[in-house]
Amino acid sequence: MTERIRLYHKLMAYGETDAYPYHMPGHKRRQLGDMPEAFLQADITEIDGFDNLHEAEGILRDAQEQANALYGAVETFYLVNGSTAGILSAISATLPEGGHLLMVRGCHRSVYHAAYLRHLRLSYLYPEQTDVPGLQEAITAQAVTEALEQEQDIDAVLIVSPTYEGRIADVRAIAEAVHAKGIPLIVDEAHGAHLGFASGFAEGSCRLGADLVIHSVHKTLPAPTQTALLHVNGSLVDREKLRRFWHIYQSSSPSYLLMAGICDAMEILERDADRLFAAFYKRYCGMLDALASCKVLRFLPQEDIAQGKQDVGKLVVVTDRAGISGQQLYELLRENNHLQCEMAAERYCLAMFTVADGDEAYQRMTRALLEIDRMLAEQSADGGAMQSAGCGKAEEERPEVRYTLTDAWERPWERMRLSDASGGAAADFVAVYPPGIPLLVPGEILSVGMCERLGRYQAQGLRLTGVQSENGDSYIKVLAEH
Ligand SMILES: Cc1ncc(COP(=O)(O)O)c(C=O)c1O
Repeated sequence: MTERIRLYHKLMAYGETDAYPYHMPGHKRRQLGDMPEAFLQADITEIDGFDNLHEAEGILRDAQEQANALYGAVETFYLVNGSTAGILSAISATLPEGGHLLMVRGCHRSVYHAAYLRHLRLSYLYPEQTDVPGLQEAITAQAVTEALEQEQDIDAVLIVSPTYEGRIADVRAIAEAVHAKGIPLIVDEAHGAHLGFASGFAEGSCRLGADLVIHSVHKTLPAPTQTALLHVNGSLVDREKLRRFWHIYQSSSPSYLLMAGICDAMEILERDADRLFAAFYKRYCGMLDALASCKVLRFLPQEDIAQGKQDVGKLVVVTDRAGISGQQLYELLRENNHLQCEMAAERYCLAMFTVADGDEAYQRMTRALLEIDRMLAEQSADGGAMQSAGCGKAEEERPEVRYTLTDAWERPWERMRLSDASGGAAADFVAVYPPGIPLLVPGEILSVGMCERLGRYQAQGLRLTGVQSENGDSYIKVLAEH
């Protein structure tokens, strides 16, 4: 076993010495406001003995090498600005200015932001729908292969796996298809930093042939918000260019507390992964077994986990046969049971579990869902509404593009009532948040169907970004056409 790195321990030990800080940060490790002293004690900057992330040659180099060995990558970079910084760096480094990116349509905003900054041309991969309305599969190797046959000048491919809801792609087959064209594959594995450490969990993309892999350590491992990793593999990526963009998109004063948070998560993986993941898997599958008796709420098939198609830990509770919307279930769980879920969609609600959840987390969720299921089943037996409140048919739309993203964000815009906006081109992203995956990208046309869909989402209480409500009216930014 390697020597322990324990950055947080080192920070705390330093804080307890009599070394006086004639340097940043300005709190000087003293509590003047509400922030706890223990937090301030450990919050230092690049002082002697603590290395410098941008030129790491001491403890931070060792910490990054530790993460690198755990995931099986050629090189790994710490990120203190979330996967967002990793995605911006990965895309900027692999595509030339004005290059052509083949990407899954339902990507995180940061992918579009990179496209805007680098003036990229975008071609989309559209995943299939699952049998759950509004829930998409991960992208298939066949879809990638077909798209690569159609588009001859693609510079790189970007996919998301696992998706927000935990659908997992066949990354090995996709990497083979992409490499057959001599171009790199970027995997946004923001939701998969926990993969590859135990049986029952899918393998991580670094070991499946992906050239660049981005992990949000904070999403699925015990680590603070904003912590993430960027891994590079193979020889298709110019590592110097990657490093240049990583310097650009990261703060020149990376937080030692966040870096200590990444280091701690890596230490946990290195020392205790077997025990923690075995317990996690057992508890999670035990909960799914108990929930199998639900009559009207339903779940993604448990076999999908065994077949490596669905992640452990993303509990998708489907409401399409239960007479309520995903948002209504989300609110019932929050208000009646004090269970705060990750997100709601039209017909499902998503709860997340990690190695940090103990028995109580599973017991409370199981009890609450069985109780809600019983209540809803009784209502439907009494002739209660089996129609989901306010849920129309879930449609998948492929909005028409009038302006490229880069072009659209440079144009003047005006604010319009949503009810008057159909036919106009969106001036900003429109998304349900969370997860923030764009329904409309700037430059795409607002169809009548999309306007109705946005109105319906609002009526259901889903949180929309890019649509403002004021005095009972909804407004949206559209590009000025004169
Ligand atoms: C699929 C996906 N990629 C990337 C990100 C960005 O991650 P971060 O919040 O760590 O910057 C998110 C955030 O929700 C995401 O869902």
